[in-house]
Amino acid sequence: QSSGVRQRSVKAELAVLFQEALHKAFPGLDVQAEVTQTNQPKFGDYQCNNAMGLFSKLKGKEGAPKNPRTVAEAIVANLPSSPAIAEKPSLAGPGFINVRLGLPWLSKRIVHMLQHGAGCWAPVTPYKRAVVDFSSPNVAKQMHVGHLRSTIIGYTIAATLEFCNIDVLRINHTGDWGTQFGMLIQHIAETREGGLGSDALDEDVVELEVLYKASKGHFDEDPEFKLRAQQAVKKLQGGDPEFLAAWERICAASRRAFDSVYERLGVKITERGESFYNPLLPGLVQEMVDLGIAEESDGAKVIWVEGIKAPFMIQKRDGGYGYDTTDLAAIRHRLQDERGDWLIYVVDSGQGQHFEQVFGAARKAGILPQDKKQGPRVEFVGFGLVMGEDGKRIKTRSGASVKLVELLDEARERCRVTIKERRGDDISEEELEASACAMGYGAVKYSDLKNHRTTNYRFSFDDMLDLRGNTAVYMLYAHARIASIIRKVGKDPASLFHTAELRLEHPAEVTLAMHIARFPEAVELVLDELAPNRLTEYVYDLAEKFSGFYTECKVAGSEYEDSRLLLCEATAVIMRQTFKLLGITPLDRL
Ligand code: ARG
Repeated sequence: QSSGVRQRSVKAELAVLFQEALHKAFPGLDVQAEVTQTNQPKFGDYQCNNAMGLFSKLKGKEGAPKNPRTVAEAIVANLPSSPAIAEKPSLAGPGFINVRLGLPWLSKRIVHMLQHGAGCWAPVTPYKRAVVDFSSPNVAKQMHVGHLRSTIIGYTIAATLEFCNIDVLRINHTGDWGTQFGMLIQHIAETREGGLGSDALDEDVVELEVLYKASKGHFDEDPEFKLRAQQAVKKLQGGDPEFLAAWERICAASRRAFDSVYERLGVKITERGESFYNPLLPGLVQEMVDLGIAEESDGAKVIWVEGIKAPFMIQKRDGGYGYDTTDLAAIRHRLQDERGDWLIYVVDSGQGQHFEQVFGAARKAGILPQDKKQGPRVEFVGFGLVMGEDGKRIKTRSGASVKLVELLDEARERCRVTIKERRGDDISEEELEASACAMGYGAVKYSDLKNHRTTNYRFSFDDMLDLRGNTAVYMLYAHARIASIIRKVGKDPASLFHTAELRLEHPAEVTLAMHIARFPEAVELVLDELAPNRLTEYVYDLAEKFSGFYTECKVAGSEYEDSRLLLCEATAVIMRQTFKLLGITPLDRL
């Protein structure tokens, strides 16, 4: 988007005006204008909250204002006139300044967005390139619901950053390296016909996981096997071609399973597993030793991070490298080679301490600046557990963890039944399949995203497929309804973007328009908190406000048909943009 087209958020526009007023009323004072949405629309749409803080700051000084209200009055008196503000702001409480937006100004913004697309409202950030680490399942194991959460949350964060014109590198940090693979390959070689040439290496992840568990049992029970497995690990790490080929086949088999999940969910991600960093590890450890930040502990090499009791182990006693070393190499690679200025790790909350250690060790090593406020933004984005309907950690009856693919299948099948019931023969098999996928997978994603990421949430098909609740299904119906209203008018809304006027008169029109214009503020919250539920809250309110508008205001055949058609279209555009960030495919008919 060229800068001439881009628009700041309403909040930011008002902040510019208040900043000017602050400078004029209190020259020489360095204060940032604080503008927020009001939660009491009775008094205003936005408010400026600076008066109280400024009053305390000036108290006791010469010529200090009498009370916060006099400060507020001085700010208002210096506020430049602008079409963004409808009337003289009012004061409330100790010194809140309430502002009402100018409706013609609001209407122009929305038409501008229609003309240029939702991208013109993308917040501007100081970041150029983000690296988002998400999904990251382990080879030879099934993806579990934790990986599903990471995939869904990571998808939305990456899409939101990309919407804000940040170049995003999505990294799948798969667990594809480690001593367990030596053990697994040795087990297959010894127990399967064909040895290292066995087809077992190409088994799907379900079978591989069984084999993996068996190999672990074998390892724990049979000391002779244990020795041979350790030999195998050495061979694999030493690059023995036969062992490497076997390992690659195992990775390829797991990749097929992961890719089929990504395809269903519409996820595109670069696989850069732990093995990628393997060649960098010996040099990195040596550097840490040379820098004097790695210490010997029980024969291992560790880095101590302030405030954390557990050691960060960069080299094990047997000389091997593990998860910690790899993550230290990875953070450096992402900063120095990839030139990321915003690193994000979407991993379950249980790994919070690990990442504190990674970041802490990187600071000690000078990979990150000592001062946390300087340099690249680096964040651990933790998330809670997924619980079953019974409120316990989600498990199948046999106690095994639930298969992700089965959850997706069931959601899709349930949606297929609902859609078929409504549409009967009036839908082709193709459209039915596409709609069932959009709705089913959308429902799984939405029900995950709508919870604050750090909460443990209960997984329930009935709740997530509820037609009337805060669900993707409800959202998709809301969108299809708008599309059908637009179809009923029978005009292409785009033909009105440059000719018709968007007139905001009815209170329900104003409420809806105001909410549409607040979309950028919802995106800003996601950038601040990396909390996708801000978007689901936003879009749910949007659907509710549209529904309020549609109950009160006739569209097709009304004397304001063109204007209202524009409002319908603006709602649909912003709704689709939000769906895009949430990974939900909109449908025009349901
Ligand atoms: N494979 C790990 C797991 O399943 C998650 C990896 C997360 N990313 C990272 N850079 N450590 O728990």
